[in-house]
Amino acid sequence: ARTQVGIVGAGPAGLMLSHLLSAAGIGSVVIETRTREDIEATIRAGILEQGTVDLMVSTGVGDRLLDKGSRHDGIEIRFGGGSHRVDFRSSVGRSVYLYPQHEVLRDLIAARLADDGDIRFGASEVSLHGVTGTEPVIHFTDADGRPTDLRCDLIAGCDGAQGTTKWSIPDGRRTDHFRAYRHGWFGILAEAPPSSKELIYAHSDRGFALISSRTPTVQRMYFQCDPEEDADSWSDNRIWDELQSRVAGRGFSLNEGRIFQRSVIPMRSYICDPMQHGRLFLAGDAAHTVPPTGAKGLNLAISDAVVLAQALERFFGTGHADLLEGYGRTAAQRVWRAQHFSWWMTSMLHLAPDAGDFDRHRQLAELDQITGSAAGRTLLAESYTGWPIELTN
Ligand code: DHB
Repeated sequence: ARTQVGIVGAGPAGLMLSHLLSAAGIGSVVIETRTREDIEATIRAGILEQGTVDLMVSTGVGDRLLDKGSRHDGIEIRFGGGSHRVDFRSSVGRSVYLYPQHEVLRDLIAARLADDGDIRFGASEVSLHGVTGTEPVIHFTDADGRPTDLRCDLIAGCDGAQGTTKWSIPDGRRTDHFRAYRHGWFGILAEAPPSSKELIYAHSDRGFALISSRTPTVQRMYFQCDPEEDADSWSDNRIWDELQSRVAGRGFSLNEGRIFQRSVIPMRSYICDPMQHGRLFLAGDAAHTVPPTGAKGLNLAISDAVVLAQALERFFGTGHADLLEGYGRTAAQRVWRAQHFSWWMTSMLHLAPDAGDFDRHRQLAELDQITGSAAGRTLLAESYTGWPIELTN
């Protein structure tokens, strides 16, 4: 089999790339180890930047998003016994949307299949060959157990944080910028009505907590914990007590309900530098990880896909490889900004294990400054709603 762009991974980066390429008349095949059912049922991220929403709408995959998603014009930040709202619209005239990632994937998969797109779900033993040559190959075993070679002009590695495509960049050519944090997030999904119209980011003496949502009947909440914490050892009551103690007060409390999923999420920052090698181009979590605070991961995957699709369009349209050669540099600029933002939100809101009184007061002063000044709110709103995607021409 042969295609123009072989894409490893049917997550946000891979599917959006395939979707954008298709609109530009460029062929692609997407290879995915999971099943369609699994992908469409796994609840993950939930916040879409304004630019991600605009892109989905303008490329014909925004109908369900506009119907079922909800626009959020601000967030609440709680600290020092008070609640402070950061209004996005008055600061930067933009918003974010709450719309679960698996719904984005459902929409992209449906659009690809309606356009006769080729997605090979349930593949295994995926490996890359000849990425520095002119016709790299993706070798895989398809869902029926048949070994298959897919010859490509180029390969996009979109196989997520645990993916292996990045290891095709030799050790001597790759710098792994990595940082681990000393806390994790205890995340739950609960059957309950929303407790708040907007997301709540809480700084408390017991550590950080985040109140988010997925649907009118399913709520997503997190609290900072030890990264080694055993989620299964916690009773529902203990979890609710911990969450309530971090956000409750002044007449507010969380609506509780049955907790049907729980896990401890590690927090790390990572960038694979460069994001490309020969004819292999990495996009999304395959190339970088951000800590979840600030909800940048999914949005970075989408912006990588946009930058890469543009470079590929120029390459196939004119034969010029200049944008392709600059892809990693262009994409990394935005990724580093998001790294900084996610690190900053994390450091401002979380209690370090060895934090003393000085650190706590310093954080409170920073939160006071950011929420108490128009300049501070604008800085946060600008980053949270997302920087414009650099469009090269
Ligand atoms: C969610 C996750 C985040 O990291 C965040 O900053 C906001 C929302 C969420 O899962 O809904």
